[in-house]
Amino acid sequence: MKRLADSPANSSFSDSFEAAFAAGVKACNFQASPLQRIEDPWLEPYQIELWLKRDDLLHPIISGNKWRKLKYALRHALALGCDTLISMGGAYSNHLHALAFAGSQFNLNTQAFVRGELVSPLNPTLQDLHDWGMQLEFVSRSEYRQLRLYQDWNALPKLQAGHYWLPEGGAGTYAQQGVAELLDEITLKFDSLCVACGTGATLAGLLTKKPSSAKVIGFAALKNAGFLNSDVARMSANAEGNDWEINHAYHFGGFAEVNDELLMFMHRFETLTSIALDPLYTGKMLFGVYDLIAQGYFKKGQRIIAIHTGGLQGRRSGILAQCGSGGV
Ligand SMILES: Cc1ncc(COP(=O)(O)O)c(C=O)c1O
Repeated sequence: MKRLADSPANSSFSDSFEAAFAAGVKACNFQASPLQRIEDPWLEPYQIELWLKRDDLLHPIISGNKWRKLKYALRHALALGCDTLISMGGAYSNHLHALAFAGSQFNLNTQAFVRGELVSPLNPTLQDLHDWGMQLEFVSRSEYRQLRLYQDWNALPKLQAGHYWLPEGGAGTYAQQGVAELLDEITLKFDSLCVACGTGATLAGLLTKKPSSAKVIGFAALKNAGFLNSDVARMSANAEGNDWEINHAYHFGGFAEVNDELLMFMHRFETLTSIALDPLYTGKMLFGVYDLIAQGYFKKGQRIIAIHTGGLQGRRSGILAQCGSGGV
């Protein structure tokens, strides 16, 4: 395996990995992520300004927080001379979906440990992973839990030379650098920044650059996610103080759970704004934001920026059709 550290004076290698990274970025043709004001008459009596940072528009597949979290890890992998990315995720994982596609664009092999058993035919997410050349290994829940322990790029036991490990959700050290860039794109002053949380890595990244006058509110997508507070504190050196919090009230009974109330909220929001939401992260987070506004949690005159973290491919799981409303 070629490693940058082994050849510090080798400028041609560093030029070539930079070129490989630039070529991958070019191939992906990323788009801008505008900040969009939500024009909703419902908000008017509360005198709250709600804006959505449209990271879902960054890319049709590597969308939302996925590119933010992968960007510098991919660059690091290329800098180390690695040729294979390995990660883990569930059968509908947005992270694996983005990673498999990114691998195909950056000329890197991809492998994944998938939680659960191989079910045939493959669901649409797994079919995409397969079609984009990702090698899949299905693991039991206990094996999967064990894999969660490996956090650093080289922490996976028996990692082969040239292989690069990305922990669950792409939540490695390099994720925060990419996520923090999101804040460089926001010039508007704001009071609160709202984001959905799975591993908490996106929230941790936001803390590294948020303005001191603003509060970051994470909305846990998982039930019993008390671990998030300590995980975010571990991931971010800026996690001291009380200008961030995680709200645990809007998981709707668990990660893949939805109900009619959520789906009706999403239906109204999507009809009004023409912005598609994913039901597991941004849909739940925005439901929470609206509910907190109704409860008077935010002061009149405040400006909230919520982040659309993408994940729209997950709508293919059929989850939207689960409830009485027939879905959004
Ligand atoms: C669409 C979407 N939004 C938000 C999140 C939560 O991100 P994090 O795991 O960094 O907290 C995820 C999970 O990775 C996701 O797939």
